[in-house]
Amino acid sequence: MAYTSKLLCFVLVAFLVASVSEARKRNTTNIQFYMHDSPSGPNPSAVRVAGQPVNATVSNNTDASMFGFGSIYVMDNALTATPDINSTLIGRAQGLYAIASQENALSLHMTLTYNFVSGIYNGSSVSVVGQNPVMNEVREMPVVGGTGVFRLARGFALAKTYSMNQWDAIIGYNVTIIPYY
Ligand SMILES: *[C@@H]1O[C@H](CO)[C@@H](O)[C@H](O)[C@H]1NC(C)=O
Ligand SMILES: *[C@@H]1O[C@H](CO)[C@@H](O)[C@H](O)[C@H]1NC(C)=O
Ligand SMILES: *[C@@H]1O[C@H](CO)[C@@H](O)[C@H](O)[C@H]1NC(C)=O
Ligand SMILES: *[C@@H]1O[C@H](CO)[C@@H](O)[C@H](O)[C@H]1NC(C)=O
Ligand SMILES: *[C@@H]1O[C@H](CO)[C@@H](O)[C@H](O)[C@H]1NC(C)=O
Ligand SMILES: *[C@@H]1O[C@H](CO)[C@@H](O)[C@H](O)[C@H]1NC(C)=O
Repeated sequence: MAYTSKLLCFVLVAFLVASVSEARKRNTTNIQFYMHDSPSGPNPSAVRVAGQPVNATVSNNTDASMFGFGSIYVMDNALTATPDINSTLIGRAQGLYAIASQENALSLHMTLTYNFVSGIYNGSSVSVVGQNPVMNEVREMPVVGGTGVFRLARGFALAKTYSMNQWDAIIGYNVTIIPYY
């Protein structure tokens, strides 16, 4: 009797776990877009609000000021469907990044929200917090939550630089969002 009910319990739990993971898999979302980060030019989408400017004339590349260590930027960057700035607007990335490495590399700390304006994600957002060593080919940052259809979600964002012109960059993003349940 005890054995039978334990077995039943086990089968039930296994069934629930399987159906939850099936639902998670079914509703795991993958969103791809390009972010346009332009700290230079007459209409910058990212502005430095604290810290030293990047000193591109420093030749000793162990000098942290070459990368502007300690600087903080606020951004409001367009997210588009293709690398073309005039392609379909998917949303905007709003938040902060700080130049956070003293070493001979440009590494950012990012705290930002991707607000989506297109399709079924319109009005929903995900928030990302993490380290972004921009010289690496692929950077991974955790998705720590969201709103709307992404409420309580988790996930990860993979970022890959598509092009860079001085300090202006187009970054390809591939974001995987897993529902909470
Ligand atoms: C999965 O997503 C669909 C549509 O996006 C929604 O209707 C459904 O309720 C979701 N499933 C769960 C278990 O939340
Ligand atoms: C940049 O670094 C050079 C060499 O160290 C220095 O002479 C110059 O004043 C610095 N420029 C700024 C804007 O800090
Ligand atoms: C480069 O800068 C570091 C730190 O300021 C210093 O220790 C080093 O001697 C410098 N190297 C050269 C070749 O100037
Ligand atoms: C995007 O559109 C604007 C305004 O129509 C235009 O000035 C700009 O050259 C376009 N950019 C690209 C990359 O096509
Ligand atoms: C997104 O939602 C806003 C507010 O509800 C609406 O005005 C807008 O037309 C929607 N955009 C798209 C592309 O569905
Ligand atoms: C995006 O990421 C997902 C999950 O890691 C992966 O399956 C997919 O191939 C990636 N797509 C691109 C275009 O990188």
